[in-house]
Amino acid sequence: MDQILKGLYRLGSREFPAFLVVGSHHLVQVDAGPAFMGPGYLQDLPKVLGKGRGPDFLFHTHSHFDHIGSTPFLLRHFPEIKVGGSETFARRLSRTKTGNSIADLNRALVRKSNMDREFIPGDFDYSFLTVKQILKEGDLIDLGGGVSLEVIATPGHTSDSLSFFLPHLEAVLAGDALGIIPGDDSWVAPQFLSSYENYLDSIERIRKRAPKTILLGHHSVVGQGECERFFNAAVADCLAFREMIEQYLKESEMKEEMVVQRIQAAEYHTLRGGKQPEAAFLLNLTAQVHLISKGMKGDRVG
Ligand SMILES: [Fe+2]
Repeated sequence: MDQILKGLYRLGSREFPAFLVVGSHHLVQVDAGPAFMGPGYLQDLPKVLGKGRGPDFLFHTHSHFDHIGSTPFLLRHFPEIKVGGSETFARRLSRTKTGNSIADLNRALVRKSNMDREFIPGDFDYSFLTVKQILKEGDLIDLGGGVSLEVIATPGHTSDSLSFFLPHLEAVLAGDALGIIPGDDSWVAPQFLSSYENYLDSIERIRKRAPKTILLGHHSVVGQGECERFFNAAVADCLAFREMIEQYLKESEMKEEMVVQRIQAAEYHTLRGGKQPEAAFLLNLTAQVHLISKGMKGDRVG
């Protein structure tokens, strides 16, 4: 656990953080990483809140397995927590197929970490999760003592993505809406999985709030004085990535699989690799290449 700013804490690890926003009346946790991180969050919570107290709300930036994985586990320990997310998030969670695939991915990571003993079957049951608070663009959640969260709809990474701006700290919790910094250089890996256009638009929507601190969903906190450069890089690296995909697609006569292999060799097995699990990198890259390919084919038809 570490304190990022006054009343804003990071629980768990840098790779899979959960964030805690503390107001005088209410406590909000944002995201609950993969299930195997659950015991770690549980250990960190009393360091901030004292023994036996959990957050009042658990808001989610989006429904990916590594942002919602430990939610049932935390609810077992703190049943009074109210779960929040976008309307699309709620709709997705209600689908059995989505719940099953989230459960499978989380169970696999728990097994890999040899942590089976910490869990009961219900910790992987995402079907019972009810979204008590539907969050939408412009909602302002007052936590008391001048602490609040403003909801920004930021689709593009996924269609259910939200970001949370904290006006009192001029900080934003962005989930994966702005990309991630996977390597040791400052390259921002674009994370547009549902819509390229919405993704770029969402970067601008967050940028307009002029945050001074950006908390990304994995690895990094972009600090005071670095945000402008980060936003520029997030956009420029995204444009360059798209152009590279388009170029490679043309060269390979639109064979998506070949493009994925080529980019994987160039991007992953270099200094930039390392931090993101290769399977996740590959899954995301495949979706991105497909999205751009679909756009190019659409252009051609149009
Ligand atoms: Fe994600």
